[in-house]
Amino acid sequence: MSELQTYQGAATMEKITSLAKRRGFVFQSSEIYGGQNGAWDYGPLGVELKNRIAQNWWKEMTQLHDEIVGLDAAILMHPRTWEASGHVENFTDPLVDCKKCKARFRADQIPPECVSAKKCPECGGDLTDVRKFNLMFKTHIGPVESNDDDNVIYLRPETAQGIYVNYKNIIQSNRMKLPFGIAQIGKAFRNEIVTKNFIFRTCEFEQMEMQYFVKPGTDVEWFNEWKKRRWAYYEKLGVKMDHLRWHQHGADELAHYAKDAYDIEYLFPMGWKELEGVHNRSQYDLTRHTDYSGKDLRYIDQDDGNKKYIPFIIETSAGLTRTLLMTLCDAYDEEKIADKGAEDDCRAVLRFHPTIAPITVAVLPLQKKDGLADLAQDIRAELREDFATDYDQGGAIGRRYRRQDEAGTPFCVTIDYETKENGSVTLRFRDSMEQIRLPRGELASRLFQEIKAYKRTK
Ligand code: GAP
Repeated sequence: MSELQTYQGAATMEKITSLAKRRGFVFQSSEIYGGQNGAWDYGPLGVELKNRIAQNWWKEMTQLHDEIVGLDAAILMHPRTWEASGHVENFTDPLVDCKKCKARFRADQIPPECVSAKKCPECGGDLTDVRKFNLMFKTHIGPVESNDDDNVIYLRPETAQGIYVNYKNIIQSNRMKLPFGIAQIGKAFRNEIVTKNFIFRTCEFEQMEMQYFVKPGTDVEWFNEWKKRRWAYYEKLGVKMDHLRWHQHGADELAHYAKDAYDIEYLFPMGWKELEGVHNRSQYDLTRHTDYSGKDLRYIDQDDGNKKYIPFIIETSAGLTRTLLMTLCDAYDEEKIADKGAEDDCRAVLRFHPTIAPITVAVLPLQKKDGLADLAQDIRAELREDFATDYDQGGAIGRRYRRQDEAGTPFCVTIDYETKENGSVTLRFRDSMEQIRLPRGELASRLFQEIKAYKRTK
């Protein structure tokens, strides 16, 4: 086993962006046309990572909770939805433009004295008045002219509303009783003015949202419970817990629907930023949908004398694509290898939890010749039903380990001449670079064990 010394753990946005492109995690959208601001494409490793994060969250919410069910609602919803939800009126950013250099700013993100003196923070030129700019993408449905106001439809800015409009359907079809939750993962769209920091804030992104319906009066208790559960989720995922903190929204930050709200913030390379929101949305949404749709959305409480009331909603809302960025930053490490030996002197490694790593196990024949490649393919075929596998036979074995380290592959299996002789293989661990020898027949069960018992140590 090599002695390892950590000499530089911290990820920078430059390193993450460059690794993401080089290894096929994330590409700029429409790159050959100069790129599309606010949109990104997820390459072969990126889509695997994104899917696994989504599956992991889905399991956490649905498989591990009797009282939470799933939903996949449409992105296009009746436009009245967004009047009822308050988004048409309130989902706005305050904008100012510089009349001289034409730069555009969010008025709440530049020094207040610039706004009051109406002076550009960049060139000192005059600023326009603050205007409200709605973040919803507006388009038209049906065969209409683009200036026809009758057929306006919006791309959803949050997945939550698809859940609220289906809440009665789900109570009826699945005989749900309070408290219960509905989970959903899907795309959301916001016409963000500032889209910097790679995939942190984009115009097209994905959310993982869960809406938990509770009896009035129990909302504060459930709000605290969900704060605990969401914190525990990141702990289980092996995230560096000293990189997470809570931030309670002050009165000036609370969204129009929220009675109370906390963000889980992560220490990204560019500083502490919101990762997920836990919100007490009170009775706001269902009351508004009742008013706007004319449908009675009260819950009939059979356990309390058939009383009718509007439930409170506790929401947990995480960005899937933002979580992906967090996992890249959190997993990234660089290590100097004191014992140079067979391996290179320095490595970049992504220490993903094995449940979200894009590739779980890579199978590497020491040589292509002498039947080792065929043997390795055979072993890979045995593993691929149960694990996400990769096969790599090109180049020196040390370099191949490096490639897998950089892709975040937690386990490598090496096939050599001894495998031919006695059927044993080498299992190499990404984090420690430790290698053990075991019979090929024990490989799958050992991998299952290792995944279940995984604890991040670096
Ligand atoms: N339904 C509540 C809601 O949408 P939010 O705080 O506006 O609340 C929830 O968004 C989460 O969605 C954020 O914590 C973030 O992870 C993600 N998110 C929001 N806007 C985003 C954007 N423009 N790009 C990427 N992720 C975004």
